[in-house]
Amino acid sequence: MIDHKRIGSRSLRSKVMSADQAASLIKSGSTVGMSGFTGSGYPKAVPLALAALIEKEHAAGRPFRVRVWTGASTGPELDGALAKADGIEFRLPYNSDPVVREKINSGAMEYFDMHLSQVAPMAWQGFLGPLDIAVIEVTAVRPDGALVPSSSVGNNKTWLDRARNVILEVNSWQNTALEGMHDIYYGTALPPNRVPIPLVRPDDRIGDPFFRCDPDKIVGIVETHAPDRNLAFAPPDAAAHAIAGHLLAFLHHEVVKGRLPASLLPLQSGVGNIANAVLTGLLSSSFEDMTAYTEVIQDAMLDLLAVGKLRMASATAFSLSPKAAVRVNSDMESFSNKMILRPQEISNHPELVRRLGCIAMNGLIEADIYGNVNSTHVMGSRIQNGIGGSGDFARNASISIFMTPSTAKGGQISAVVPQASHVDHITQDVQVLVTEQGLADLRGLSPKQRAMTIIANCAHPDYRPGLTDYYKRARDHSYGQHSPSLPGEALSWHQRFLDTGSMLV
Ligand code: COA
Repeated sequence: MIDHKRIGSRSLRSKVMSADQAASLIKSGSTVGMSGFTGSGYPKAVPLALAALIEKEHAAGRPFRVRVWTGASTGPELDGALAKADGIEFRLPYNSDPVVREKINSGAMEYFDMHLSQVAPMAWQGFLGPLDIAVIEVTAVRPDGALVPSSSVGNNKTWLDRARNVILEVNSWQNTALEGMHDIYYGTALPPNRVPIPLVRPDDRIGDPFFRCDPDKIVGIVETHAPDRNLAFAPPDAAAHAIAGHLLAFLHHEVVKGRLPASLLPLQSGVGNIANAVLTGLLSSSFEDMTAYTEVIQDAMLDLLAVGKLRMASATAFSLSPKAAVRVNSDMESFSNKMILRPQEISNHPELVRRLGCIAMNGLIEADIYGNVNSTHVMGSRIQNGIGGSGDFARNASISIFMTPSTAKGGQISAVVPQASHVDHITQDVQVLVTEQGLADLRGLSPKQRAMTIIANCAHPDYRPGLTDYYKRARDHSYGQHSPSLPGEALSWHQRFLDTGSMLV
């Protein structure tokens, strides 16, 4: 029985089919634009059916692989299943699935890791190639054919516009009260036709609540009833609490100095346990009437919204623990007027991040003593996730903050190193560095001043002598004295870990 409430368009009801039938419309070698952003709003049935089809084809000795474009990371039913079936040839723009990570790092899959705000414009520029088919989860199809978006928006507008054919998954698990929460801006263009984006406050609505889609392009509709599968957050540990404490003290200090308003500026927060701990810390802070202009709405933001400390949150997706996802889904009515979900090219748009003056807070893998940040590559070559939106925000924020525990792998690796083994965020884009040891405010400091501040405030005491020794020798022997460095020696810290399992001498 077709759910007439969810699929309001009579003419489109004729396109309802099984996930297997829909998957059979996807051909080997196609480029598939999937919905999905940090584990929410991704299609749950067609990718699984496609993975099964790929396995059958492989068993019959016929190669079958597709190119997958998404909003960001998705769920195990999409990335995990397709990667296990060895069905992904190329993937963009961000991944955190462990199976995909292994395929990329073993060299079996090509991965284009890119700034999330740039995906849609690049798709329009055309050099990524044609988009053969889009598979998009929606909450409902209205009688007039307009599509009610799901728990993430990501690149769906662009996929629906660019794809030759479209498969919809209508997920009745998603609350119909999502209708009206989205703001889909259709005014973007490529140069030389770009105009200013008319958003001046995080709560401005500048678009439509629905996606448009040419009904003739819709080749299949699959009904599903399945929750988003996000991971639970670990309870914040002592390091996360300490980082949150340093950061909140810093924000208070900025307010006292008159450099930030008492309601702060729109918050952007990366994902993960530390980000969640910082946001949780805001619950007991004195800041009121805050806003968020960010990529994802996570658990602690719900708490802040519920008690009214956060007036509203603008993002492109939810990134919730399973418990919080149920909470928001069952109480959508009370949250929906405080949240706006937008396309990721708008949630992460450099013009808007700069105009609003966001306070950006992101995680890192390692930082060097000059403040260059590596967010993506363990030991310089092994991709962890990807740059995500961190570059969109870090370069354009009014304060760009990076935070991390001072050590990794049980203390065997220092997160502060002489030279980052890979650089995602250059020193000019890193204004504040925080570890559980303390906070380094790098604004206005020269490279040498930065080095001394980072070693003193952020490095773990076990690693301070080694870093100080390196820095002193660099002062004595470096080719130049602006950013003293001994390139041959700097990366020996990483080599030492690879050889002995520890960066400690
Ligand atoms: N050297 C080697 N390994 C390191 C390391 C280092 N300096 N720092 C962390 N790691 C390892 C951890 O041990 C862990 O490995 P495991 O999975 O085998 O246990 C893994 O990297 C992840 O570390 P963890 O501390 O759990 O990371 P996190 O959840 O705090 O995330 C990033 C940190 C950098 C991976 C994450 O913030 C990220 O992907 N950032 C880029 C994207 C981004 O910023 N998005 C938000 C923008 S809106």
